[in-house]
Amino acid sequence: MRATITSIAHWVPEDVYPNSFFEKYLDTSHEWIFTRTGISERRFLKEGGTSDMIVPAAKECMAKRGVKPEEIDCVIVATVTPDHFFPSTAAIVQRKLGLKNAWGYDISAACSSFLFSLTTAVKLVESGACKKVLLCGADKMSSIMDFQDRATAVLFGDGAGCALIEASNDESMGFIDSILHIDGEGEPYLHMKAGGSVKPASEETVRNREHYIFQDGQNVFKAAVKGMADVSLEMMEKHNLTADDIAWLVPHQANLRIISATSDRMRLDPSKVMINIDKYGNTTAATIPICLSEWHKAGKLHKGDKLILSSFGAGYTWGAIYFVWNMND
Ligand code: UT7
Repeated sequence: MRATITSIAHWVPEDVYPNSFFEKYLDTSHEWIFTRTGISERRFLKEGGTSDMIVPAAKECMAKRGVKPEEIDCVIVATVTPDHFFPSTAAIVQRKLGLKNAWGYDISAACSSFLFSLTTAVKLVESGACKKVLLCGADKMSSIMDFQDRATAVLFGDGAGCALIEASNDESMGFIDSILHIDGEGEPYLHMKAGGSVKPASEETVRNREHYIFQDGQNVFKAAVKGMADVSLEMMEKHNLTADDIAWLVPHQANLRIISATSDRMRLDPSKVMINIDKYGNTTAATIPICLSEWHKAGKLHKGDKLILSSFGAGYTWGAIYFVWNMND
C-alpha cells in the first residue's frame, strides 16, 4: 500500500513585521537581510502558542476533505516550540480539535521535522496501523528568538501547516521514498543553551540570555548547502530522475542562497522552485507544508507532479522525500 497527502492547509498570523521593524532598534538594514537571506518580512503570533496556529490550519485541512474530528486516528505535531515541555502539543491539539479516537505524539527534528514526521505518518498508514493521520508542522519561533541578537532575530517567523495522510487511491502516486539523516556533531552550531535537563532554567540562565536560539550561521550555512544539495541529488539518482522530470523542488526556507545552491546542483530551472521565504522567514517545521498548501491553493500543483522535498536543520538533521502529487487542482 502507498500513502499520500489527501488534504493540506496552512495558517499564519496576521501581524506582519517587515525588515524595517528591526532597523529601528538593531544595527541592521533591509538591504543586508534581503540580500543575505531573501527575507522581506515575517509574521509573529502575539497571543497564544503553537497549538493555536495548528488549530485553524487543521480545521481547514479536515473540512476540505470532509473528515470529522472523530475519524482521525493519529495526530503528529512536528515542532521545536511545543506549547509546553509536556504534555505533548499533540495532546493539546487532540483536546482542542476533539479528536476523540486519536493517539499521537510530537516529533522534534527542527527544520527537518516535517520530512521526518511525514515519513513516519506514511509508514503508519502503509502498515495498516492508521487510516487517517493528521500531520501538523508548526513553530512559534518568536517565542525562542533573541530580539537583541541581529544575527538570528531577523531570520525566523511563526506559522503552521497541516496535512492529512491516507492510503493512496493510485499505487503510482503519493509518497515514494525518503532519505533521512541525523548527525549530532552539529549540536555546537545550532542549539538552545539552557532550559533542558542539562542546564535547567535559573536566574543565571535567564540573565545570560540562554533560552534563545544560538546559531553559528556560517558553519550551519556550509553544512546546509552541502547536506541539502547532496541528499536531493542522491534521491534523483536513486530514482533515475532528471531535472526535466521534476515539477517542483519544495525546499526548507532558511536562506534563499541555500535554496539556490541546491536547485543549481540539481540543474533545476528557478521557475520550478517553491520560494516564499520573502513573506514568512524561516518558520522551521512549517516551511514545507506552508509551501505545499500555498502552491496547491494557487492551482500550481497538478496531479502527477513529481516533487523533491528537501530540508536541513539543527541536530544536524537533513533529508529528501520523493513524492508524486495526487490531489486534484
Ligand atoms: O533553518 C535552520 C538552519 N539554519 C540555516 O540554514 C541558516 C544558515 N546560515 C545562514 O543562513 C547565514 O549564515 C546567515 C544568514 C545566518 C548569515 O549570513 P552570512 O553571510 O553567513 O553572514 P555572517 O554570519 O558571515 O556575517 C557577516 C557579517 C558579520 O559582520 P563582520 O564580522 O563581517 O563585520 C556579521 O556581524 O554580517 C554581520 N551581520 C549582520 N549585519 C547586519 C550578521 N547579522 C547581521 C544583520 N544585519 N542582521
